[in-house]
Amino acid sequence: MNKKLFIKTFGCAMNTRDSDHIIAELKEKENYTLTEDIKEADLIILNTCSVREKPERKLFSEIGSYAAIKKKGAKIGICGCTASALGKEIIKKAPSVDFVLGARNVSKITSIINTPKAVEVEINHDESNYEFCMTTESNIRALINISIGCDKKCSYCIVPHTRGKEISIPLNLILKEAQIRADNGAKEIILLGQNVNNYGARFSSPHEKINFTRLLKEISKINGIERIKFVSPHPLHMDDEFIEEFANNKKISKYIHMPLQSGSNAVLKDMKRGYTKEWFLDRVNKIKKLCPDVGIGTDIIVAFPTEKEEDFYDTLDMVKKVEFDTMYSFVYSPRKDTSAFNMKEIDSKIAATRLEILQNLHKQILEKKAKNEINKIHKVMIENIKDSASEGRSDNGRLITIKDTNLSLGGFYDVVITNNENGSLFGKVVR
Ligand code: 5AD
Ligand code: SF4
Repeated sequence: MNKKLFIKTFGCAMNTRDSDHIIAELKEKENYTLTEDIKEADLIILNTCSVREKPERKLFSEIGSYAAIKKKGAKIGICGCTASALGKEIIKKAPSVDFVLGARNVSKITSIINTPKAVEVEINHDESNYEFCMTTESNIRALINISIGCDKKCSYCIVPHTRGKEISIPLNLILKEAQIRADNGAKEIILLGQNVNNYGARFSSPHEKINFTRLLKEISKINGIERIKFVSPHPLHMDDEFIEEFANNKKISKYIHMPLQSGSNAVLKDMKRGYTKEWFLDRVNKIKKLCPDVGIGTDIIVAFPTEKEEDFYDTLDMVKKVEFDTMYSFVYSPRKDTSAFNMKEIDSKIAATRLEILQNLHKQILEKKAKNEINKIHKVMIENIKDSASEGRSDNGRLITIKDTNLSLGGFYDVVITNNENGSLFGKVVR
């Protein structure tokens, strides 16, 4: 009998990838098909994130509302990072939940759905050699895990606690998956891991010595793959060899995410980030020198407990110097089981003001950058065709809307930027 699965995914690309694995395993081995209508679902899965506090609080009200409308007999499962962090607490607090499956225990999905009230949150479960069922649908973009877990000890971050120690996935499995996805129509590959450029630091079975730069070279040999992206690299591991490969390899998208977190050396030290602002700037300058049109993105946390006003000014100063093309910014949120958890928090009004100042500064930078884009020509891959326009990304990560629906999904076009509206770019195909 055909059963229906409803799945909602929060958080990062790693979680999206885990949801893909869950869907593929359940489709192939348990005969599920996807539904977007929660009322007809036989199985409801929430794949959760716990990186900041709010989504975690929302989880229980969300479970309550699903339990109220679900079909009689339908099961509810909680997966992902909040599942790892809270474990059996979830079933205690929300008895309508049927099972809890932690991040990095995804390969157990087919057995857990048939085990009442099961909780599988083994923090160092090793799935690095497990060959998940693959989405057979052709998709122009393929997300491919290259490592699981994280060995860093950033003092604000829950991830090492929810995703365990770092293990790299063997090269042959990555290449096999990439080749199959390319054969099924993928044009773009996104390599995923908590610290992708630390690839090769540890395997769970004997493996040749290899680093991220070698992996990039191997992936770029695959026919059919035209664009390679990766999230997230760590600034600390951006050595010269990596930066040169990034700049010179034509298949690598010239957009790079460089999570700064803070522009103050004192705060970076308290965050245990392992680099200084000088190191970060040196890496940025090297990348910009080799790749003048590079797009750089970042993550920034304001109001870390030890952040003084002058530290915050250092962050603003770094944002002005780098002129990030994308910036995700957050107010620090204390997370249990992290080393910063017991530090005294900064007043929430001051924190909110700092976030606003930072975001306003970035908005100005984006507006200035968008104006400079007019008349530039970008090679754009079409990612989405809507009713009256198509959307795609340039090689350096800029989202561009083209008022032309006569383009092919996954196709590459030369597009000239014609105008910008509030920082959003519009262009037309150069024929
Ligand atoms: N509080 C606020 N932001 C956080 N992040 C991670 N942990 C926290 C926290 N405790 C942010 C970081 C990270 C992004 C995914 O989320 O900027 O890079
Ligand atoms: Fe959220 Fe981090 Fe887990 Fe991703 S790894 S789902 S961002 S807590």
